[in-house]
Amino acid sequence: MKKQIVRFTLNGTPREFAVAANDLLLNVIREQEKLTGTKYGCGIGECGACTVHVDGRPVLSCLKLAVEAEGCEVVTIEGLAQGRELDPLQRSFLDNNAVQCGYCTPGMIMIGRTLLDETPNPTEEEVRSHMRGQLCRCTGYASIAKAVMGAGEYETKAFRMPAE
Ligand code: FES
Ligand code: FES
Repeated sequence: MKKQIVRFTLNGTPREFAVAANDLLLNVIREQEKLTGTKYGCGIGECGACTVHVDGRPVLSCLKLAVEAEGCEVVTIEGLAQGRELDPLQRSFLDNNAVQCGYCTPGMIMIGRTLLDETPNPTEEEVRSHMRGQLCRCTGYASIAKAVMGAGEYETKAFRMPAE
């Protein structure tokens, strides 16, 4: 299929990609850009594993055409940390043992971040309502809800990943 150029900002860097009209944003992120933190789960909008931010809103990248991202700001899980400083929600996931196999985790963190941006101290009900489209086969959700509710405590504490 004929390719066209789509331009958008990916994790803070203006980029351009040659895409077919039916290429999904998920595939551009994972296959062209090799950013494999964004996961392919169901491919039909049912699991949330592919969640990224587009202009600050959570978007299922398995349902979004790459051409629709023209001119947008796209952020993936790889763009959430500031250099080696984890996002407070990433830190809270670690401390609350909210990760088991980890497959759902990037999507959980991306959508959790959009809740925290609007509601810094959400109730459990708010967390569960906001994240009701995200599926996890491992944790039973309690630790994930706890991690999102507890993220506020890390907002003022920087956490630096160990040097490689
Ligand atoms: S892979 Fe996109 S919602 Fe499941
Ligand atoms: S931690 Fe395994 S699917 Fe959620």
